[in-house]
Amino acid sequence: MHIFVPLRHANRRWFSDMIQFILNQTLIETNKPPGLTLLDFVRYEAHLCGTKIGCREGDCGACTVLIGALHGGEMQYQSATSCLTPLANVHGRHVVTVEGLNLPGKRLNRAQEAMVQHSATQCGFCTPGFVVSLCGYALNVQKADAAGAVGAIDGNICRCTGYKSIERAAGDLALHLEKKDAAHALPWLVSERFLPDYFTGIPERLSQLNNKDRKLHSGHTPIGGGTDLYVQKHHEIPDMELQFMARQKPADAILFDENSCTLTAQATATDLMEAAPLSEAVPGWRQFLKLVSSTPIRNIGTVAGNIANASPIGDLSIMLLAVGARLTLVDESLSTEREIALDGLYLDYKKLDKTPAEIIRRIRFDIPRKGQFFNFEKVCKRQYLDIASVNTALLVTVENEKITTARCSIGGVAPIPKYLRETSRFLEGRSLSAETVRQALAVLQTEISPISDVRGTAEYKHLLAKQLFCAHFVELFPQTIKMEDLL
Ligand SMILES: Cc1cc2nc3c(=O)[nH]c(=O)nc-3n(C[C@H](O)[C@H](O)[C@H](O)COP(=O)(O)OP(=O)(O)OC[C@H]3O[C@@H](n4cnc5c(N)ncnc54)[C@H](O)[C@@H]3O)c2cc1C
Ligand code: FES
Ligand code: FES
Repeated sequence: MHIFVPLRHANRRWFSDMIQFILNQTLIETNKPPGLTLLDFVRYEAHLCGTKIGCREGDCGACTVLIGALHGGEMQYQSATSCLTPLANVHGRHVVTVEGLNLPGKRLNRAQEAMVQHSATQCGFCTPGFVVSLCGYALNVQKADAAGAVGAIDGNICRCTGYKSIERAAGDLALHLEKKDAAHALPWLVSERFLPDYFTGIPERLSQLNNKDRKLHSGHTPIGGGTDLYVQKHHEIPDMELQFMARQKPADAILFDENSCTLTAQATATDLMEAAPLSEAVPGWRQFLKLVSSTPIRNIGTVAGNIANASPIGDLSIMLLAVGARLTLVDESLSTEREIALDGLYLDYKKLDKTPAEIIRRIRFDIPRKGQFFNFEKVCKRQYLDIASVNTALLVTVENEKITTARCSIGGVAPIPKYLRETSRFLEGRSLSAETVRQALAVLQTEISPISDVRGTAEYKHLLAKQLFCAHFVELFPQTIKMEDLL
């Protein structure tokens, strides 16, 4: 099937080419505004109402869809919140809604069946989102287990069933997926009733579609995944002139050489989390990244967007400040390019050392080497899917029980994601001991200026800053430094 969805608004002057993608089994060609949310397209243009509208802020997961891209002949699917996804970002992709997961003859697929068998649904409003996330897990997983399946639904909220039955359904699926034939994943998932059989024809159809490239006129406002921008400017975005930074993401959005890591503007938090060289270099790396938003938000939210948004509690900014990241800023209108240190970017609340026309093209940092230790701490009102009250990261080099280099950053205690320049400098050259950490705490308190807000009082944040700074050393050097010696 092939659907053409025509333009209704006369004032959409800034784009002329069609956005093309496959929606379930149907080829879509549309000249709808590229900043329209995928959710609005799916529900109001394609009339697929299984995808629900809950919060429109990425919190509830009722609008979850799968977005599949062809990389090296293989399909890679990820869950995404369609309420925060610009239509332009699915050009050349396969978009799967819950309707596209139905098996012929009204038979239930495995995820739907597991939800029914475990009584994991009541009003049913959230259920399509859960089913889509679980099918996304089935598509992606290499080595299934119950924890991983439950992790895949970390972006889905249910207000009436209670999570135990949903977790049991996820666990059941994981058991079945232990037998997954990774070498022939799609045919296996089809034969085992996880997916309808049209999925096997999608790579071929998409490869033909991808040949038809689309040029979007570049607007002024960069947009990556849209997970910050849509929350702030939901109504304005379809009418804004946008520069789509994350569309047509290459397979290698994150690149490594022997010592360093380079992220392109399209690299997402998931790319950072899945990067094997970083997991090898930093114990606990994946766990740190799991504290950032939820699976569908990490799948679409870019690292560059986190940095440019300049939230004083941006988790990725805080981590990247500690590893000493450097940014390449490009102004295409002036054909200029310059490199700056991330710790020089933030001048004041949402005030950056960059012109509005400069975009972040690349982010580069050295991979922590042997003898270097990295830790990230975050306290929020909920453990997962919440922004931080205070977050902090530390990278130290220790040689012969001496701290030779230190970089510490902290969020939620200043108008900017704060690089603790004085505290870091103080640590360098001192012995790795409880006494050094106690003295450094005094320096830290002079560098921060928290205010009382919904995330906590100024006094509470002072306390959190102190405890989380100590936690870095206790976590990294439990033999040498104990919490009772610090507080
Ligand atoms: C439910 C939910 C939970 C969240 N939880 C967390 C969390 O736990 N921790 C956290 O840190 N964040 C969290 N966020 C915020 C957000 O997901 C991240 O900040 C994300 O990394 C933003 O990336 P993006 O690509 O979606 O940004 P966008 O929304 O596309 O853009 C954000 C800003 O960056 C600008 N921009 C984008 N790309 C570029 C570029 N290449 N160059 C210059 N400017 C650019 C845009 O113009 C905009 O001003 C959450 C968001 C949601 C909706
Ligand atoms: S509608 Fe709630 S996450 Fe999209
Ligand atoms: S079943 Fe009602 S919200 Fe989940």
